[in-house]
Amino acid sequence: MKTVEEYIRSIPDFPEPGIVFRDVTSLLQDADGLKLAIDEMIKALENVDFDIVAGTESRGFIFGVPVAYAMHKPFIPVRKAGKLPCETVSQSYDLEYGSATIEIHKDSIKPGQKVVLIDDLIATGGTIEAAAKLVEQLGGEVVKMLFLLELKGLNGREKLKDYDVESIVSYEGK
Ligand code: PRP
Ligand code: MG
Repeated sequence: MKTVEEYIRSIPDFPEPGIVFRDVTSLLQDADGLKLAIDEMIKALENVDFDIVAGTESRGFIFGVPVAYAMHKPFIPVRKAGKLPCETVSQSYDLEYGSATIEIHKDSIKPGQKVVLIDDLIATGGTIEAAAKLVEQLGGEVVKMLFLLELKGLNGREKLKDYDVESIVSYEGK
């Protein structure tokens, strides 16, 4: 049987020279690869006590929703700014060039609720750190951050020392 890693293709020099792009589309377009990835993420949550799955737009939606569905939990979309119609809380974070802002609806989390954050990938950790701050603004507790892939060379875990961070596959480089 193939491993999750074997379903992910690596594209050298994309989007720029020297970067190896880890492409999850090759996993998604294979029914066995998709099933294996979701099953592994579910397994990582088997002993976690939580109320809600939240996933970050857009690739976090791909993995967050099937996990939430399979575990019979609600799903909260963490969206890019300006997309949500009701009252929101916002959080900005730094990108390599400039910054970005993400939001969730104010009524999506009640104080004390336990939240699992899911994304496809952790690189610098900036996106997920901002998502955690959103949860915390509403009084929620981030009980786990779960990723399919981790790029260890970008040291995302450094800024996430207070959290339980887990990835299914990790790569040494950037
Ligand atoms: C990518 C990826 C993660 C984030 C990881 O999303 O899907 O969400 O970057 O990087 P970080 O750990 O350095 O924050 P991107 O912002 O490219 O948007 P997308 O999910 O809409 O493709
Ligand atoms: Mg993303």
